[in-house]
Amino acid sequence: MVYDRKVQEYAGKIAGECGVTASLGIDAGEAGKNLETVAGICRFLMSCGADRDALLLAVGGGTVTDVAGLAAALYKRGISVAFVPTTLLSMVDAAYGGKNGVNLDCYKNMVGTFLQPEFVYRDISCLATLPRREFLSGAAELLKTFLIGDASLYAETVDVLRREDIDWRHLDELVGKAVAIKLRIVDADPYDNGERHKLNLGHTFAHAIEWYEHRHGVECPLTHGEAVAIGIIQSASLCNESLAGRLRSDFRACGLPVDLPYPLDELMPAMENDKKNGAGGIRFVLIHDIADITY
Ligand code: GLY
Repeated sequence: MVYDRKVQEYAGKIAGECGVTASLGIDAGEAGKNLETVAGICRFLMSCGADRDALLLAVGGGTVTDVAGLAAALYKRGISVAFVPTTLLSMVDAAYGGKNGVNLDCYKNMVGTFLQPEFVYRDISCLATLPRREFLSGAAELLKTFLIGDASLYAETVDVLRREDIDWRHLDELVGKAVAIKLRIVDADPYDNGERHKLNLGHTFAHAIEWYEHRHGVECPLTHGEAVAIGIIQSASLCNESLAGRLRSDFRACGLPVDLPYPLDELMPAMENDKKNGAGGIRFVLIHDIADITY
């Protein structure tokens, strides 16, 4: 098992229940989302004598599932992986669909592969202790999924998120529905050659913002989801100003940022180097209306 040290106690409980034979705690976060961490996990697997029948269980948020997924895909040319996501972002997005990856220099998820997890175990009670901004980061991905796939679930989610007291049972139901939408898209296009691009709504801008903040050593950077929220609004502004206005007010009510924090021309180098681009230039995912997405 590989787990985020921040959830050590919870990971210990999972380890006991699942008969884990060896475990490695790592410091999750963007700073550790690199090939060195992947190498560390592979060394840990070697030191345990893990063979190709081993299953690597990752407990933590998106960075943990991403690095563990890549380590599992590479170790001895591939072993099985399974996830216990502990953040809303990983419960909605990162743990599902088989994408893994690490950053290279300032560029997000530049090195990675596909490996579908054997299973994902979701326990919404983990979210009760998640810091507010981390929670909102996942909330942005939840809203994104419904903007892609279902207008009424989008409205229902805004209603749940804007309340001070989160209704966890209702949220769990919505997360399950968002996962079903994501998995339908992934089933149609597992290797991200077309339909799956839709899941990158807002991400061209988001990755550019994250690149800019990394490059300029911004002290208090946006979370991934916060950057995605801003990116979705930018994307909507490109084709439907009235939708952009609605999203701006919904996202603000949920506690998400909505304004582009850096000049657009300074984000261009990152957009030009985005891994989603094809030969024709920067590839944006556009939202014309809710559930009307093109790429
Ligand atoms: N997070 C986007 C995807 O899984 O394709």
